This record gives sequence, structure tokens and C-alpha cells, in this order.
Amino acid sequence: MNPLWLSKGYYASSEILGLLPPKLQVWLSSFGRSIFMEQFVKHVPKPTALPDSSLKVSAWGLNFRSSLMNSAGMFKNGEGYDVIEALGAGGYIGGTSTTNWRRGNEKLCIKLPSIILPKSKMAVNWLGLPNLGDGVLAKQSFTANKKSDCPIGWSVMRSPDFNESQGVQLLIESLWLYHEHPQIDFIEINESCPNVKNGGGSIIPRLQLISDKFANLRRRNLPLIVKLSNDLTPDIVKELIPHLIRLGFDGVNLGNTSTMYNNYSHKLMDSERDLFDYFTNQFGGGVSGTMLKQSSLALCRAAAEEVEKLKPNHEFHIIRSGGINSAQDLIESSQNGVTLNQWYTGFFENFNKDGYSVYHKLYADLLCLNKQRK
Ligand SMILES: Cc1cc2nc3c(=O)[nH]c(=O)nc-3n(C[C@H](O)[C@H](O)[C@H](O)COP(=O)(O)O)c2cc1C
Repeated sequence: MNPLWLSKGYYASSEILGLLPPKLQVWLSSFGRSIFMEQFVKHVPKPTALPDSSLKVSAWGLNFRSSLMNSAGMFKNGEGYDVIEALGAGGYIGGTSTTNWRRGNEKLCIKLPSIILPKSKMAVNWLGLPNLGDGVLAKQSFTANKKSDCPIGWSVMRSPDFNESQGVQLLIESLWLYHEHPQIDFIEINESCPNVKNGGGSIIPRLQLISDKFANLRRRNLPLIVKLSNDLTPDIVKELIPHLIRLGFDGVNLGNTSTMYNNYSHKLMDSERDLFDYFTNQFGGGVSGTMLKQSSLALCRAAAEEVEKLKPNHEFHIIRSGGINSAQDLIESSQNGVTLNQWYTGFFENFNKDGYSVYHKLYADLLCLNKQRK
């Protein structure tokens, strides 16, 4: 079935679905999401025209058609490259994967719980890192048709099923597996997933180990980015940046979903608040979408100021993820020192509106805004 019809059907019926008991809404949304994603990755559209060459971005010796790509978690097992490439995305990222196969979360007989709140332009998910495991994923081919201007990134993290020190060792082994993968151009280490039980442990010693046993020993150009949480404060980001640079990492992504539910509940559209409260009380999960716009921008700005001050000897780039859903966001990103942008919730919101022209339409808006600014 055409995934666009599924999307339109779901959004169109969201008013009626909102009248159902919240548990049933979560079940329908979670089940609907799985069906939709199965179809979405199967339906490779005819390639759209490539974006204007003025939108190209070069970073770490890689060429991206534009500064915008999907964010991690959209294609957990590395599906969908051909779809994303045909849409005209600037790049692609798969994962997050872990060393071991993970089923993902299930509660109240609901597998991989997630909801979207279309009127508030938000989503909440408690998926729990379902993936086939690095042993399988590091052997797969992403595509038979890789394009040099649509690089492939891979997101990987320390599995929460092991204690911290064993988990880091296993993560390093996985990094070497992906290092040997000829199609992977950059790696993102997810240091920010809210949907797993184990505590965070201490990030700097962990990154030090990854630096000693992987980052400093890489035998090819394979940029290594660390993805942090959008719930950090600008001061903490400023404290972390010098460590990331010193340890040889090549960039930071700000950032992942938020668990600061109290910041959002009162800002949601009235008709979606009960579902949000039900979901966050029953499952927890990470909040994504438009309300992360300001925090992701403020954190990126803080990171960029620190990088500017430190003037590293190697290329260190800032990637923004959180609340991006328009051309104006990309402009604000570039004005605040961001090199690359990633979107998830905003992508599907725009896909529902613009269908398979989703990137094309955003690029047209961006060119228009760029012209007006000149
Ligand atoms: C359903 C869903 C699953 C996600 N899974 C992952 C993941 O596996 N790894 C990760 O780093 N981020 C994951 N994220 C977070 C996104 O990559 C992104 O950082 C976050 O949603 C903020 O961006 P957005 O506001 O554009 O959605 C997920 C987000 C959603 C909505």
C-alpha cells in the first residue's frame, strides 16, 4: 500500500481517534507506525531533481547534497537508503544499533509504544532500541546504488544489556566492525537514549576509552560524532566540547529526545494533552518535535561558540537535531554555527503535507528565503 495514503489516512482520522480510550490510541498509533514504516522503506519513489548546487555542504572530506538528512532511529536496521536518496536528502543515517539483538520495549501488550500529536507537532516514543545487532548489521549492504553526494552514517550505542565497562568494550568491537564496512562514511555514537533502563555512568572516561581504542587508531577517514541529549544545559555542552575535541572526536549532535515532560504538557494543544500525559505516565519515553526547536538551537549555539574559541586543529562540526521542520530552521542553524541538520518528527509531518516532494519543497523554500536575505 502507498505509505502516503496511510499517512494521510492516519492524520485525517486523528480527530476521531482522539475520542478513543488512550490505551487504544497508543496501540493503534504504535501498530500503525510499524505498518507505515514497513511500507515506507519498500516504496522507492522516482528520483526527484537534485537540489541546487548552492545548497551543497562539504564536511570531513565528504560531500552532502544539502545540510539536511534524517536523524537516527528512523531506519533502525539500515533500511531505506534508496528512498531517502531518491527524495533528495543530503545524507542518510541508519541505526541506532547495539552489539546484541534487541526486541525493544513492550508494555500493556503494546509493542514498541509511540504516539504522534499532529496538532502540537510533537511525538513521544518508548521503543527501547529494537535492532538486529551489530554482528548482522555490520555485514549488510545498504544499497546497490550509493551516491557519492548522499553519504551514509551509522548510529551505534553501548548496549544497556551489559554493565558499563563490558558495554563499552563491546561498543568498541562494534565500531571496528563498522570501520570495515565500505559503504559507511561516518559514525554517530548515541550517548543520549532516554528509553533504556541502565544509568548513564560517566561519559568522559567512556569517551576516553573509545578514543584510545578506536578514534585514535582509525585507518581511514571515518568521522566520529557524539550525539548528546537536548536536555543538557548550554553550560554543560560548553564543558563537554573541549573533551570531545581533545579526545579526537569530529563533531557533536545536539541532540536526542527530551524527558522533561513538565516543560511540554502545558504547551500542547488541549485535545492532545490527555494522551501525552497518559503516555508519559505509563511508558515514559522521549519527546520529539517542534518544542525542541529552541533547545537544540541554543545548545548548538553554545557548542559553536566553544569550538570557535578553541579553534581545533581538526575539522569539528556541529549537527543539529530537534524540532527541525522548515527552511527557516535551516537558516537559523547556519546562522548559529551548525553544519548539518537532521529531522525525524518534522520529516513525517512534512511528508504528510508534501508527499514525495518533501525535500524538494523544503529546498525550494530555502532558496527563496536565501534570495530574500541577499
Ligand atoms: C520513533 C523515534 C525513534 C528514535 N530512535 C532513535 C535512535 O534509535 N537513536 C537516536 O539517536 N535517536 C533516536 N530518536 C531521536 C531522533 O533521532 C531525534 O534526535 C529526535 O527525535 C529529535 O528530532 P526531531 O524533533 O526532529 O524528531 C528517535 C526519535 C523517534 C521519534
